[in-house]
Amino acid sequence: MKNIIITGGAGFIGSHVVRLFVNKYPDYHIINVDKLTYAGNLANLKDIENKPNYTFVKADICDFETIMGIFKKYNVDGVIHLAAESHVDRSIKDPFTFAQTNVMGTLSMLQAAKLTWEQLSEKWEGKRFYHISTDEVYGALEMTNPEGIKPPFTTKASSGKHHLAYGSKFFTEDLKYMPHSPYSASKASSDHFVRAFHDTYGMPTIVTNCSNNYGPYQFPEKLIPLFINNIRHRKPLPVYGKGENVRDWLYVEDHARAIDLIFHKGTIAETYNIGGFNEWKNIDIIKVVINTVDRLLGRKEGEDMNLITYVTDRAGHDMRYAIDSSKLQRELGWEPSLQFEEGIEKTVKWYLENQAWMDNITSGEYEKYYESMYANR
Ligand code: NAD
Ligand code: TYD
Repeated sequence: MKNIIITGGAGFIGSHVVRLFVNKYPDYHIINVDKLTYAGNLANLKDIENKPNYTFVKADICDFETIMGIFKKYNVDGVIHLAAESHVDRSIKDPFTFAQTNVMGTLSMLQAAKLTWEQLSEKWEGKRFYHISTDEVYGALEMTNPEGIKPPFTTKASSGKHHLAYGSKFFTEDLKYMPHSPYSASKASSDHFVRAFHDTYGMPTIVTNCSNNYGPYQFPEKLIPLFINNIRHRKPLPVYGKGENVRDWLYVEDHARAIDLIFHKGTIAETYNIGGFNEWKNIDIIKVVINTVDRLLGRKEGEDMNLITYVTDRAGHDMRYAIDSSKLQRELGWEPSLQFEEGIEKTVKWYLENQAWMDNITSGEYEKYYESMYANR
């Protein structure tokens, strides 16, 4: 029996990781530690909440005493740390909360793991602290190929499935950190703390930096679920700037599979970048989403293009993110399993079939927040 804490398990990516681990490893006890902020939603875990190897603990990762108590009570062997404030636009309005949760919260998890594990006779043996981070810590890449080209990669995923590359450079694990938003600055700081705990105390840590995820259960403040819901209700689609910014999109279950693989097989103290080889300009992805929603709702494909509304750009908006995940492919054999077209079809279908999940979030407080976000644009 292994006891594993997954923090942020009630959020978007965390809920997929919890589901995968609870179902795949009946001999592991999964302890989901989540504060249930606006982004945490236990409805994301309805299908596994009664499994015998799953426990939910409502706790704030910044509350060090409580986290110490959880480590003691459950005899914890491993941590997969996802809890964070995750939305760039919110970080621009409220950077303090991001520093508090992402930096101090991570430090609190690290210190609790250290104080607990270093007292054991076997010390770090069999222990692992795995920190989930973002590609945004690397800053922005240049758009040197504005029309997009097929890069000459040799790996299976990239040669067969790669979408377009909008520049010749990619984020590799050895790049210097150059975060621009308060969100990415707070994640960069937390990554440094994790590595410092390895270098200073010998804690067995791993860090991964992943590109933009999409799929079921994503909070509808992020581009894809927000736009699916707005198209359904024929509300305007706020496109920041010219819609030319590029993101590298990965289906969330592929990220969860990578986390499983790296947690078990990754080398201690290493960093792995995880991405989809799947760069899209925002405006192009938005058109795919509009066409897909229209078709699945029985509307004429493209009839909702007129909802596209260009609004003031996000402050400090990073131009392009593109991950080179060839290290992970080479060393551990991971690659994205879904073509983007399949992933987006599955995703749109899921949101349209789970309207109660969406309506539960978008009614009430969130609606007021969303309206205030766009009131001044
Ligand atoms: P999310 O916002 O959907 O979920 C975050 C979860 O953390 C929520 O359940 C929330 O309740 C919980 N949480 C927040 N503050 C907490 C606190 N103080 N104590 C305990 N729990 C707290 O986020 P997500 O998109 O699932 O991202 C998960 C992780 O993956 C984050 O660390 C994020 O930086 C990273 N990441 C996300 C993406 C992406 O595209 N979404 C890409 C790369 C990396
Ligand atoms: P988002 O989903 O917030 O992820 P991130 O900022 O972490 O990349 O945004 C994805 C892209 O979509 C980003 O370039 C900002 C843009 N965007 C819009 O144009 N309009 C929107 O309403 C949102 C939420 C995002």
